[in-house]
Amino acid sequence: MSNISITIDGVECKAQEGDFVLNIARANDIFIPALCYLSNCSPTLACRLCLVEVDGKRAYSCNAKAKDGMNIITKNEEIEKERRAIMEIYDVNHPLECGVCDQSGECELQNYTMEMEVDCQSHCIPDMPRPAVDWGKIHYDPSLCIVCERCVTVCKDMIGESALKTVKRGGPELAKDWKDKTPKDAYAMWNKLQKSIIGVASGAETLDCTMCGECSAVCPVGALVSSDFQYKSNAWELKRVPAANPHSSDCSLIYYDVKHDSITNSNDRIYRVSNEYGFSPIHGAARYGYDFENVVKEKDEEAFEKVIDALKSKVDTIEFNSLITNEEALILQKLKDKYGYKLVNKDAYMYKKFLDNFSQVSGKNLYSGDLETVSKSNFVVSVGTALKTDSPNSGYAFNNALTMNKGAGLYFHPVADPVVDGYSKNLLSLNHKVGTEEAVLYLILDLFGKNLPIETADYLKSFHTVCKQTVGEGEEAKEIEVDENSLYEMVGVEDFSEKLPKLLAKKDKFSLIAGEDLYNHPRSKNLAKLLGLIEKYTDFSVVIIPSQTNTLGVSIICDLNKNRGKFTLGYNVKGDVTLSALGKGDLDMPALNQQEGTFVSMNKRVVPTNAALPFNGYCLNDIANELGLDAEFTIDYTAELPVRRGFKKVAFDDLPNEFTRAGVENRGYLLEEKIVTFKDEVDEVGEVKEIKNPIYLANPVHQFNAYTNKAHQLCEAGALYASSQFLEKRELKSGDMVVVEGDGGVSLTLRVEHEPMISGDIPYLPTFDTKLNAEQFFPDGYRFAAVSIREVK
Ligand code: SF4
Ligand code: SF4
Ligand code: FES
Repeated sequence: MSNISITIDGVECKAQEGDFVLNIARANDIFIPALCYLSNCSPTLACRLCLVEVDGKRAYSCNAKAKDGMNIITKNEEIEKERRAIMEIYDVNHPLECGVCDQSGECELQNYTMEMEVDCQSHCIPDMPRPAVDWGKIHYDPSLCIVCERCVTVCKDMIGESALKTVKRGGPELAKDWKDKTPKDAYAMWNKLQKSIIGVASGAETLDCTMCGECSAVCPVGALVSSDFQYKSNAWELKRVPAANPHSSDCSLIYYDVKHDSITNSNDRIYRVSNEYGFSPIHGAARYGYDFENVVKEKDEEAFEKVIDALKSKVDTIEFNSLITNEEALILQKLKDKYGYKLVNKDAYMYKKFLDNFSQVSGKNLYSGDLETVSKSNFVVSVGTALKTDSPNSGYAFNNALTMNKGAGLYFHPVADPVVDGYSKNLLSLNHKVGTEEAVLYLILDLFGKNLPIETADYLKSFHTVCKQTVGEGEEAKEIEVDENSLYEMVGVEDFSEKLPKLLAKKDKFSLIAGEDLYNHPRSKNLAKLLGLIEKYTDFSVVIIPSQTNTLGVSIICDLNKNRGKFTLGYNVKGDVTLSALGKGDLDMPALNQQEGTFVSMNKRVVPTNAALPFNGYCLNDIANELGLDAEFTIDYTAELPVRRGFKKVAFDDLPNEFTRAGVENRGYLLEEKIVTFKDEVDEVGEVKEIKNPIYLANPVHQFNAYTNKAHQLCEAGALYASSQFLEKRELKSGDMVVVEGDGGVSLTLRVEHEPMISGDIPYLPTFDTKLNAEQFFPDGYRFAAVSIREVK
């Protein structure tokens, strides 16, 4: 694509050839009405409001691709007449219930009705009953629906599930004479509007999707709303607190929408989470898992003193997880520097080791990719992650690349996932043998490597054998030479080399997503180095998904130790003395929705998060001050984050937190990349003990940790999640009790639950329900373990 210049309403606008005119106008602050178009999704031409004149001809700006020298006029008498008529028609039979509608105040139908000055109605048609339906967390009222199809589009192009579609409305036909009385586009829109409403694509009664809620976020009217939020508040009463998703490392921009609890309780509470749906989708846990705050009445001075005493006399280790801010991580590092405490964080420790090994080969301290490079790619590979649940936003970016860029991709994982399979017919799902990820990465180097180091190239050659094969029959029979690649057999997948050229046709932007299965893998060191080779010697830009919200930030800021000492202060993990934001320890701490600070997102961006709710107890900064550090607020440390490790000396209040009109993420700042010394040294594929009857450590959709499970809309008891194939084979059904027994005599009795969103023979145990202690089966952190499972009556 080349740089071009077009003129919109006399303003010269720079753009890329092929960009949509509407996006160029928005990036240049020029307003064009538009109801159905969503950035990064395909235009549906449902509303026709974005009508403009391009070089004298009518065109829809959401669908018109820019060419150098184009001249665009966004309004004239004819266009304004069409737009006004369109808005009049949208208002035909629209229920007059704005007073109680959840969308009122942020309703685009209201806004455009005012904008187009619709103060009378010249169209009419009989209405028909359109009863509302309840789809679990989402409520659909077809009588409010303007069939803009945004919900259908976002679900298909962004989320990847195609769970909604337009269905027949069965409304009355438009009388013939309306055609003559109505402007052309308004009539065409009306005709379509009369014919459709929105329904569940599978034909089921309720939505059988991952329930991310993005369809309700994009709905411009009150047709799709959160069932929980319905009739709870007017939009204008809510205070929007910008924050970062606290549950996973996408750290997407969210807003906590906050207001007082009730007439009798003036304390604030969070009513819902909203997002910048035009630029950054959020997953279901970010949307529905918001009320995990730790409510305490006052400071517990006695408990605080005990913690300080312990830190002064007994504590030699502070253990914590990665659900903390960068500022808190820096406080812990400063305490380590001052008092010599060991800092233990298993998750960040393994991730850091992995990233260090990756850097030793790639020559850069960070990976090159991010969610945007993935969604702009046209060939994506995912390895070592149950994408849908580990990092839904990576899945959205993967799907967006497939659907919007005519892309293709490979999904390597031992657990088959029908949701990921459904992204596109150009996605090849490869459910490889457990533990063979090293061979998978060698296979990727073999297929995509360019100018590989000689040792690696020679090693890869050793997997190839040229065999003679007879093709055809009788007189037609001939012998041909076939290259057999034993890596396919090692990985345990069908040879897809024949399909690959088709998938790779016209592909020129490559991304690879690597995930958590690799960090604690018995061969993690070599896996990291192989990823380093892929980053360097293929066209892939690599993303290494940080496993928890701020794993990347913690791994950069803290000098971590592997093991605990004799006496541990646990911060959100169990210690000899425990600080807990779940309210289950010796001293209460604020939860992440009660804290200001920053995280480092998987996009390598230092992003701010704000406190939605107050916290009346002590925080880590109070403890640090008592131990001799000196900062009034935790966020005083934002400007002190280590510059030598890539942070910038910027105060918290100076951090931006927005998307520009052009959709550019202007949140915080990007970590500075550092060049490090490197060596192209990798090992050959090593032995990994075969895991018989494996189970997998993973969470179901919507769950990431104990905090998501604390939220009232997500709270559930953990179970052994199994596919229908697994259940049928063992004659089990949802609700049956089983005993899971693992190595070293560990066992767990729990309920089985049918998980329709996986297939195959590997069930999974979750971490979100701390009562289950699933981790006991995975002592080294590796996510696959051998177990036996039997039913108990
Ligand atoms: S439900 Fe909302 S987003 Fe979907 S078509 Fe109707 S108005 Fe548009
Ligand atoms: S909740 Fe998410 S997955 Fe389900 S229909 Fe809406 S957008 Fe699609
Ligand atoms: S925004 Fe272009 S047709 Fe609706």
